[in-house]
Amino acid sequence: MAFSSRRLPMSHVLPASPPDGDHFRPSEYTAALLRQVRLRAPWHGRVLEMGSGSGVVLAALAVSGARQIVGVDIEPEAVRRTRALLEALPMVPSIVHCGDLWEPLAGELFDLVVFNPPQLPVRHDTGDVTGTAGAAGAIRLRSWSDGGALGRDVLDRFIAGLPGHLAPDALALITHSSFMSLEETLRQLEIRSLRAEVVETVTVPMSDAKLRQLPPGWLEQQSRQSVYRIGPYVFCDFHVLEIRHAAATPIQ
Ligand SMILES: C[S@@+](CC[C@H](N)C(=O)[O-])C[C@H]1O[C@@H](n2cnc3c(N)ncnc32)[C@H](O)[C@@H]1O
Repeated sequence: MAFSSRRLPMSHVLPASPPDGDHFRPSEYTAALLRQVRLRAPWHGRVLEMGSGSGVVLAALAVSGARQIVGVDIEPEAVRRTRALLEALPMVPSIVHCGDLWEPLAGELFDLVVFNPPQLPVRHDTGDVTGTAGAAGAIRLRSWSDGGALGRDVLDRFIAGLPGHLAPDALALITHSSFMSLEETLRQLEIRSLRAEVVETVTVPMSDAKLRQLPPGWLEQQSRQSVYRIGPYVFCDFHVLEIRHAAATPIQ
């Protein structure tokens, strides 16, 4: 793995243990994004993480040579967590906005954009924020995974704004659950003159808490398509997509 000489060890930026009741404990999806970020290091430009959550992906980018670090999250608590993690890296200029997707970033271009969007199709008859339990059982904020009725609400708005924020030879890396239509995502990218490639696919178990959030009948309908069941357990795949402008210079 090639890192720049500016790299600090990850132990420098990670606290010894996560806080109790950690809403922002990174998921398997985040881990896959981290892998791609580390595999492709060093980074040299201006990088953005949309939905920075815990801040771990931005921290990894900061220690991998990125020139400027920008984060956006809609949750004030996530913004505080990300800023705290990045403050341990005084030599890397960083800014973390609290806002809705591209709204705080008018006119800004990036060399790398990463996003692990909320993409769970959720039922909306459960009243106020109920949250879903994360990998270690901590309660998630609903915004962590709520992708609306089809899971696509946040992703579609992200894609709509992406071309205006990717520098000409820039790259975006996003996670994409198999229960959202990949064909629809590729279609939306294509009409915006973007091209995408699946660079990684991972199979993960779906937690009981996530299964409880699903719309009625969704699991039965999807069981023949994007999720599969073995005994009492349910699994799904997710991909990491690499996205570029269609006119970008091909990678050698
Ligand atoms: C699946 S989590 C990924 C978090 C992050 N990658 C990590 O591992 O800590 C999705 C993140 O997107 C944020 N989010 C949800 N809707 C958003 C929106 N409209 N604009 C900005 N951030 C949003 C959530 O608060 C959450 O932090």
